[in-house]
Amino acid sequence: MAQPLLLLAAALLALALTLSGAEVPLADGEPLEPYDRLFDAAVNSYHRNDWQGVIINMERALKNQQVLYQVKTHCRLQCNNQTGFVSSASSRDFLFDLNFFNTVLRKAECLRACKSTRLGPDSLHQVTEETQLEFKRRTPYNYLQVAYFKIKKLDKAVAAAYTFFVANPEHLEMQQNLEYYKLMAGVKESDFTDLEARPHMESFRAGVRLYTDEQFLASIELFEKALVQYLQADMECRALCEGPYLFDGYSYMEYNADLFQAITDHYIQILSCRQNCAVELASRPGKEKPIDNFLPAHYDHLQFAYYNTENYEKAIECTKTYLLFYPNDEVMNQNQQYYEAVLGDQLARHIDARERVQVYINSSLLEKELLYFANEVFGITFIDPDAWTPENVMPVKLREKQKTERETAARISEEIGNLMKEIEHLVDEKTKESVEIVKMVREGGPVLYDGVQVVMNSKMMNGTQRGLMDGVITPNQCLELRMLSNLAASAGDGYRGKPSPHTPNERFQGVTMLKALKLAQDGKVPLSSAKLYYDVSEKVRRILESYYRLEKPLHFSYTHLVCRTAVEGNQVERADLSHSIHVDNCILNSEALECRKETPAYTQRDYSAILYFNNDFEGGEFIFTELDAKSITARVKPDCGRLVSFSSGSENPHGVEAVTKGQRCGLAIWFTLDPRQTERDRFEADELVKMLFDLDVDQVAAKAPAVGEKTLGPSEGGPQSQGGANTQTPAGGQATEMAGEPGAAPSNKTPTRDTENQGPKAPADVPLNSASTKQEL
Ligand SMILES: *[C@@H]1O[C@H](CO)[C@@H](O)[C@H](O)[C@H]1NC(C)=O
Ligand SMILES: *[C@@H]1O[C@H](CO)[C@@H](O)[C@H](O)[C@H]1NC(C)=O
Ligand SMILES: *[C@@H]1O[C@H](CO)[C@@H](O)[C@H](O)[C@H]1NC(C)=O
Repeated sequence: MAQPLLLLAAALLALALTLSGAEVPLADGEPLEPYDRLFDAAVNSYHRNDWQGVIINMERALKNQQVLYQVKTHCRLQCNNQTGFVSSASSRDFLFDLNFFNTVLRKAECLRACKSTRLGPDSLHQVTEETQLEFKRRTPYNYLQVAYFKIKKLDKAVAAAYTFFVANPEHLEMQQNLEYYKLMAGVKESDFTDLEARPHMESFRAGVRLYTDEQFLASIELFEKALVQYLQADMECRALCEGPYLFDGYSYMEYNADLFQAITDHYIQILSCRQNCAVELASRPGKEKPIDNFLPAHYDHLQFAYYNTENYEKAIECTKTYLLFYPNDEVMNQNQQYYEAVLGDQLARHIDARERVQVYINSSLLEKELLYFANEVFGITFIDPDAWTPENVMPVKLREKQKTERETAARISEEIGNLMKEIEHLVDEKTKESVEIVKMVREGGPVLYDGVQVVMNSKMMNGTQRGLMDGVITPNQCLELRMLSNLAASAGDGYRGKPSPHTPNERFQGVTMLKALKLAQDGKVPLSSAKLYYDVSEKVRRILESYYRLEKPLHFSYTHLVCRTAVEGNQVERADLSHSIHVDNCILNSEALECRKETPAYTQRDYSAILYFNNDFEGGEFIFTELDAKSITARVKPDCGRLVSFSSGSENPHGVEAVTKGQRCGLAIWFTLDPRQTERDRFEADELVKMLFDLDVDQVAAKAPAVGEKTLGPSEGGPQSQGGANTQTPAGGQATEMAGEPGAAPSNKTPTRDTENQGPKAPADVPLNSASTKQEL
């Protein structure tokens, strides 16, 4: 009985010794150089045109980031192995927590020793969220591409460019670069490699390709390899989750949880992060959505491939494994029966599902149960990323709530559909009467709100249909909206910031109205800020409608909260614009001095408005030009509460000058006079606002601290790394859909390759042919 105490004492002693004694000697003499420091050094080199410096530092930054992750995973896995939690039968209840914390302390000591040997002090490797995001977006490869090109190392330049492009498929400049590279002498097809490709995903995709070509034997090898790699990657992903507690914004200032609450808050974050590994591993860079049902899909493909190679034992093993996820899947059950009949019951009986998967499912389910419990009791949001979770894992109350939410969503979308049809009908009638009358506007109408002053009219701004107002929002509101933009941008990768068209000089982040509301609903940004965003957009709409004396109402076409941040470094020689000169509703051809009102321009847009939040940055002036896109006719310097508005046609070409230092934030809104062109998101946003804020309207129940509802408090934030999970369909949906699919029952019992009913389906959005991705370039 005294043993645990002794152990604890010994552990404490050991801890005290290592703490008081000299630092653990470092393996290579020096601790690992932090990768953010190297990244910064590379960026500085870039601005000095020191290409060797870019390459040396950036390559080391990428390597050290890898090493950092490797050391962390290695240490955590090793220490978990060395100091497991053993339930000791002899320990009395009152000693249990000592036993428990004994293990905790030893684990901490093990980790500290393991990590500091290689990494030095932990604080050395604290990297800002921004830098982490840059690495996630593969920005280092953008720099490397330029540097390698400059020193004429074409193969490396191409690989860097390709690696960057895979994660940023909308990056037009890089796409052009790649096209250019393809035409260059000495560039080989094999140079277009993704240097950050993840083994499990590569193997899976290669497997699917062979499978689709009916090369089953070869595909089996790749799928099996993919599974080993997947489970390894999963283990590492989970180990990496054991990081520090992530506070939401400034919530650490009032955080005062007691021992067990603090442990709970932190542990639940870790669990959420671990659950998110399923999403993480099924995600491909540059693609919005992870592959559905990724892990089960391996077994689905495998069972059919084994069947085709007449390996019935393995085929049965794989159907059984698949059925661990979806026990009621009709097709799979039938396949299994068929294989068993072919092989003979005697032999089939002894074949089990793969145990490793059973262990995986069991532990994942236990995690889910804890997370749902934390959700019910502490209101910590948990959204299950998996479709295979059995229904009964989710608490009944939450299940019911989600059901009503789904029904509401379905009803809303139907109502919107009807509404749109009605509106279309009405408008068709009306447009026959008059289209162009509304264009005969006379500016100068009342601005409707106290504190809003008209500073300049069209004449003062050297053009037509232009207006400048100040005082549209207060300094506090400016701050809050700017904070909202920054919070939303960092709320996991659910919102992917895009590099500005002229990277690497600026970073661009934006959040739409609906996205902000959804983030607020998930507790990732404050509800009040999202509501402010919503209210301010409506205020701007009303001001414009009144000021330009429009005879028809304005409707929202697009609403976007946007920040542009200058990348640190020497920006003096920049000649590019932050946003090049364009017209909002037509395609500007500045050489021909014409503007064609046709797609892909947003021809439906009639008025544009930009409301600024701040002036503490350099550059970034808004400019109007002539149709030549060169002669500047007016300039607007952004400031908090300043609103520039103008009609969206060829009379108003405009752009934004380079932001050379700091962050420039604002709210851009485009309006249309045609109600049919109202963005659909807006209707959904209206409904969401009603649901979240209008307690009187059939939502009185929302007042009760319902499950899943955010309650205020330190545990509110939810894990930062969970962004991706929130876009997932709720648990159960997909599974039941699959099992209940009509026509899933085949008439004969032979598994066929009829992809409609039987045999595995390749996940629809797996690019089966990566070669074709290259050819698209
Ligand atoms: C855990 O430790 C044992 C014994 O040292 C070793 O055989 C095993 O491979 C280790 N497991 C892991 C996951 O490192
Ligand atoms: C997983 O859980 C099930 C049901 O609780 C149990 O029967 C089974 O033995 C567990 N399997 C493993 C490998 O842990
Ligand atoms: C309008 O043009 C005049 C004369 O070129 C110029 O001085 C003035 O600054 C312009 N107005 C704005 C708002 O830029």
